[in-house]
Amino acid sequence: MPDDARFEWFADVMGVRAGERVLEIGPGNGASLARMAERLGDGRIVGVERSATALARAGQRCADEIAAGRIRLVEGEIGKIVPARLLAELDPGEQFDLIYAVNVNLFWTSPAPQAWATLRTCLSPTGRLWLCYGYGTPTDTPTSPKPSPTRLTDRCAAAGFTCEPTTSGDLLAVHLTPTH
Ligand SMILES: C[S@@+](CC[C@H](N)C(=O)[O-])C[C@H]1O[C@@H](n2cnc3c(N)ncnc32)[C@H](O)[C@@H]1O
Repeated sequence: MPDDARFEWFADVMGVRAGERVLEIGPGNGASLARMAERLGDGRIVGVERSATALARAGQRCADEIAAGRIRLVEGEIGKIVPARLLAELDPGEQFDLIYAVNVNLFWTSPAPQAWATLRTCLSPTGRLWLCYGYGTPTDTPTSPKPSPTRLTDRCAAAGFTCEPTTSGDLLAVHLTPTH
């Protein structure tokens, strides 16, 4: 299954570990969430998705993990939703160890200052931030749409992050490090 292969590769590259508190932006129908939850053990993954239709599909797909409290779903749009609504899915005082998005264009197609501010508020001081792209596998010929590297680097720099890309086959994962 291409989805299995791509999300396993993204999880490997991002270094997803047991016990982490993870936020995925735009999980769509939730194909990624169950795979990530498997790696998290007693950790937790929160998916924030603006499409109610996609979120309903994710809810069906991940019903067991949601019942167990390992996956939580929030309907909302990064850039509009208040960070406190996302942090409310964690224990009091906690922030996310990892925030990532797969094929969400927001961060390179527009300045999105509110979205970047939300990421900074929700990410723990030692947390990791990744933007991932691609629908194929780590061994496919690259065909999926990807951001312009220059535009993505410029957007990240304007938001106060440097970018370090990793690629394999059709997949691209970009690690963002804050500059201040
Ligand atoms: C192209 S789809 C990718 C879905 C999935 N991540 C994947 O790779 O298969 C992008 C998803 O992100 C969601 N999305 C886009 N911008 C968003 C935002 N600002 N906040 C939350 N969800 C967003 C869309 O509704 C859509 O479900």
